[in-house]
Amino acid sequence: RSFKELPSRLLAWYDQHARDLPWRVAPAERALGKRPDPYRIWLSEIMLQQTTIPHGTPYFHAFTQRWPTVEALANSRDEEVMTAWAGLGYYARARNLLKCAREVVALGGFPETEKALVKLPGIGPYTAGAIAAIAFDRQAAAVDGNVDRVFARLLALKGDWAEAKKVIAAEVRALVPEKRPGEFAEALMDLGATVCTPTRPNCLICPLATMCAARAEGEPDTYPRKPAK
Ligand code: ADE
Repeated sequence: RSFKELPSRLLAWYDQHARDLPWRVAPAERALGKRPDPYRIWLSEIMLQQTTIPHGTPYFHAFTQRWPTVEALANSRDEEVMTAWAGLGYYARARNLLKCAREVVALGGFPETEKALVKLPGIGPYTAGAIAAIAFDRQAAAVDGNVDRVFARLLALKGDWAEAKKVIAAEVRALVPEKRPGEFAEALMDLGATVCTPTRPNCLICPLATMCAARAEGEPDTYPRKPAK
């Protein structure tokens, strides 16, 4: 089973079906050379670690209006940020958000590599990969729950889920294309959220259906198979 064509097929699908999200740069603007703003990518990723896009989006707008830059956020009073965060839950995240903003300003801007990003407060391997790829065009992978599900199906992974996740991470890393690594990451997220969904994957419209082992078996919705803990 070959995934040689996976990146190109996925990106062609993304060109047609990318979700229009407030931190993304629309294709027409991208064509003119506009890049995503690292601050907005970071903020959206931190917010979406604990909530859905519909719930998080109003907070994203409120934050970026009140604090348009990481410098503005870093200079804000703690209490004002905590109040604005109310409703998103997990106040430790908001504290880390401010801590991170202040460290980024002290550094003179967001670092561009996964290795440097993961040292910042509140930024784990997933978020570091997402920021490096989406904001800085680095050949990094961003493997979240959606991506785990997509690849558990593509590979029809059975058995130990912790093992499966390692296989998936290695597979995704190997597939990240040199060109458009950030859009590749965003495309996997969108495919998982809109096509390869948890309970009713829509294989009929999936650009990867012909390379999917779970689809070949006939029951893609039964993946991922996480043995009881
Ligand atoms: N979930 C987390 N990060 C996301 C992103 N950048 N796009 C879509 N869904 C996401």
